[in-house]
Amino acid sequence: MNYRWEFLIKQIQDNDYKIIAEIGVLKGNTMIPILRECTVKSYYAIDTVPQKKCYIDNRIKWIGKPSIEAAKEIADKSMDLVFIDASHKYRHVKEDIIAWLPKVKDGGMLCGHDYCPAETGVYRAVNELLPNVQFVELKGEPCGNQFRGIWFVEIK
Ligand SMILES: C[S@@+](CC[C@H](N)C(=O)[O-])C[C@H]1O[C@@H](n2cnc3c(N)ncnc32)[C@H](O)[C@@H]1O
Repeated sequence: MNYRWEFLIKQIQDNDYKIIAEIGVLKGNTMIPILRECTVKSYYAIDTVPQKKCYIDNRIKWIGKPSIEAAKEIADKSMDLVFIDASHKYRHVKEDIIAWLPKVKDGGMLCGHDYCPAETGVYRAVNELLPNVQFVELKGEPCGNQFRGIWFVEIK
């Protein structure tokens, strides 16, 4: 596995996930390949600075608010997959996990980017809150002398 969108596309296709949220979208480098490759119904694109013109697709629901404010607009257990990739500060990652974990349906997935020891905020917050977390290394995404990973938990 080389890139974050490859992991996400595989999860979405293998599990027939339809309702996706990405927390921290920036220019859509992850969102765009997912929308091109997958038959998702809705893609909640959450960013304090929404770049609405980076890709035009009527499946995108932009929410231009901080993550934890945006989460208040989303019903519990309504998302198939939530991908967290906003602020990497320890406190913010913790807040994002706490806000978005309840939004994922049973059978869905909560996951996030930048799981590697050099990203101390992400690494510590994820390990503390999610002791059963799994991860995959992304061989195309270096992080110091290691690789970035995607952390993930399957919601049962
Ligand atoms: C690392 S970039 C996202 C990269 C993108 N996920 C990708 O794969 O290309 C982080 C983004 O998170 C946004 N962001 C930072 N803090 C946020 C918050 N509290 N709520 C929502 N978005 C936030 C920033 O504006 C920025 O666009």
